[in-house]
Amino acid sequence: MTSATAPGKIILFGEHAVVYGQPALAAPVTQVFTAVDVTDTLRAGIEVEAPAVGLHGELRALPLAHPLRSTVESLFRALSIVSPPYLKITITSSIPVASGLGSGAAVSVALIRALSAHFGHALDDAQVNALAYETEKLHHGTPSGIDNTVITYGRPVYFVRGELTETFEPGAPFSIVIGDTGVSALTKESVGDVRKLWEADKKRWEKVFAKVGKVTKRATAAIETGKIDKLGALMDENHALLQAMTVSSPELDKLVLMARAAGADGAKLSGGGRGGNMIALVRPERAEKVASALLAAGARSTITTIIT
Ligand code: PMV
Repeated sequence: MTSATAPGKIILFGEHAVVYGQPALAAPVTQVFTAVDVTDTLRAGIEVEAPAVGLHGELRALPLAHPLRSTVESLFRALSIVSPPYLKITITSSIPVASGLGSGAAVSVALIRALSAHFGHALDDAQVNALAYETEKLHHGTPSGIDNTVITYGRPVYFVRGELTETFEPGAPFSIVIGDTGVSALTKESVGDVRKLWEADKKRWEKVFAKVGKVTKRATAAIETGKIDKLGALMDENHALLQAMTVSSPELDKLVLMARAAGADGAKLSGGGRGGNMIALVRPERAEKVASALLAAGARSTITTIIT
């Protein structure tokens, strides 16, 4: 058996604007992850078992554009494998689906790593990232590539679409409480709606995206120099700009407000929005209080993570 795992992720700053060329910051969340096991079997074909998404069956019975089928087949093409051996692929994941924590990209990355290792062709990060990006296009339509990148590298990243990715190390660690609204929302839809806004008035929305870009750059400088006290206000500013883009929701806004009221230094939605997760910057001693306040305000679950 060959196995691989890939972590979840959060976007700290810059979601949506990143699709339009602005920088974004993202970090892995190792408390949740996807695991893929690949084993040789005697049964003909490639059997896939992914209980989290209710899938159990033959890979080739899936539509050609299904993310799992597409990932496996593009990997075979990349490795010039014409007639693959009989395999069983088991996918388990603790990353909630459709919630902005990168579940789709984590499956692709872990699958590519496990399968390529199984065939004795372990790929480097850049190759894994490029293949995972192809599958992200099926999930998102016009993805920036930030999800597959942060999950592949497993390090905080400063990401600009089409440019070489920079991983970075915070000057001081900082704590984030992640709160799940429990509302699943498709990133493809919120990204599509922002595109409609942009198409209707490019000048106006490019100004908003540029403001997000500035916030992200200031946040990057603050993180790199360990000035964590500057980050909370920047998160609040970023959330307001995301609200203007119509990608927040009543549930997200409520959790953001409750986190701030419980002592978070700042809070914002994270990822595609409309549902999914929000993040709150907390001093470590306040993490528990903020997490309890989020649960009391209706969050389905919380994760406390330290970005290092
Ligand atoms: O996968 P999510 O929901 O974390 O969203 C990814 C971030 C977006 O900027 C909204 C889309 C993208 O492709 O960058």
